Amino acid sequence: MTIIGSDISTIKKASLSLAQDQLVVFPTETVYGLGANAYSDKAMQKVFDIKKRPSTNPIIVHVASLDHILLAAQEISPLEQDLFKAFSPGPMTLVLPKNKLISSLATGGLDTVGVRIPNHPIALALLENTPVPVAAPSANMSGKPSPTTIEMCRYYMEGCVPYILDGGSLSIGLESTVLKVEKEKIYILRSGALSAKDIYSAVGIKPEQNIEQSHRSPGTHFAHYQPKAHVILFQGELPAVSDKAAILTFQNTNDWKHSFIFSSPEEYAQALYRIFFWCDSQKIETIYCEIPSSDGIGHALIDRLTRASGYRNLE
Ligand code: TXA
Ligand code: MG
Repeated sequence: MTIIGSDISTIKKASLSLAQDQLVVFPTETVYGLGANAYSDKAMQKVFDIKKRPSTNPIIVHVASLDHILLAAQEISPLEQDLFKAFSPGPMTLVLPKNKLISSLATGGLDTVGVRIPNHPIALALLENTPVPVAAPSANMSGKPSPTTIEMCRYYMEGCVPYILDGGSLSIGLESTVLKVEKEKIYILRSGALSAKDIYSAVGIKPEQNIEQSHRSPGTHFAHYQPKAHVILFQGELPAVSDKAAILTFQNTNDWKHSFIFSSPEEYAQALYRIFFWCDSQKIETIYCEIPSSDGIGHALIDRLTRASGYRNLE
């Protein structure tokens, strides 16, 4: 049976069950995570089994504050500390050398670990009450849209975990920006709400964004973020109206039966995965998605839309 709640006594019980190698679904500001004791091979194996996740795809480890980074990392440089100070808690994951306690299952066998301090009161309360760092991938089955609502979490995980912590609808809706520092250069391994411009403003270094395959995060090699419906991207003129299709756009769409109109890329990003989920529940066959401008979160949104389309439909 799965208990769903958000009061402090439920959060404390969820912390206890994490320490006993059980899994807990919890909200962050980006997407819901499927949390597990990052020191335990047994707990990590459960995550890979439930998600059907390839074992070479490493998992982000979450801690409560800057003081807790060394629960996961071996060491941290002054530039890496500056990045954490500028952007944490927040939608940033930084890849650091891993310490010996972190399960090598969590890191997909790598000698590095992605560390993040999420900006959500329930996540922070959970982490503060848990004596171990919490590895958490998004709480979806591998390849499916990440959960950003409690309904999506229940659909994916009810009956599989003892606790789902309810944070309602999440504020950002796309996964964190994954960064790595090498020889005083900053590489963006996965784009997210934190943009290259934000990073430059904070630390005065322009991050490398269009990077070689060897520098990409392992997770970005896998097919991802695909709803059952066919996703087709468009720019400019609207496609022909269809009752079996949905449209996600910034434009007015009077004749469409299923249309979602956004006033900003942030609003589009926040709603994307829950709309994909709704479209699947309604057996929508095609989802037309307008390509946003690449400023701010637009860069990450284009990345997720391109993956959802299976790279097929960009003209
Ligand atoms: O917003 C988020 O990041 C959410 C919430 C729950 O924090 N988590 C999330 O986890 O999106 P997941 O497992 O779906 O994606 C983790 C990404 C993958 O692309 C993975 O390859 C990359 O982070 N990653 C993790 N550890 C890494 C490492 N040591 N080196 C390079 N990439 C790493
Ligand atoms: Mg994921």
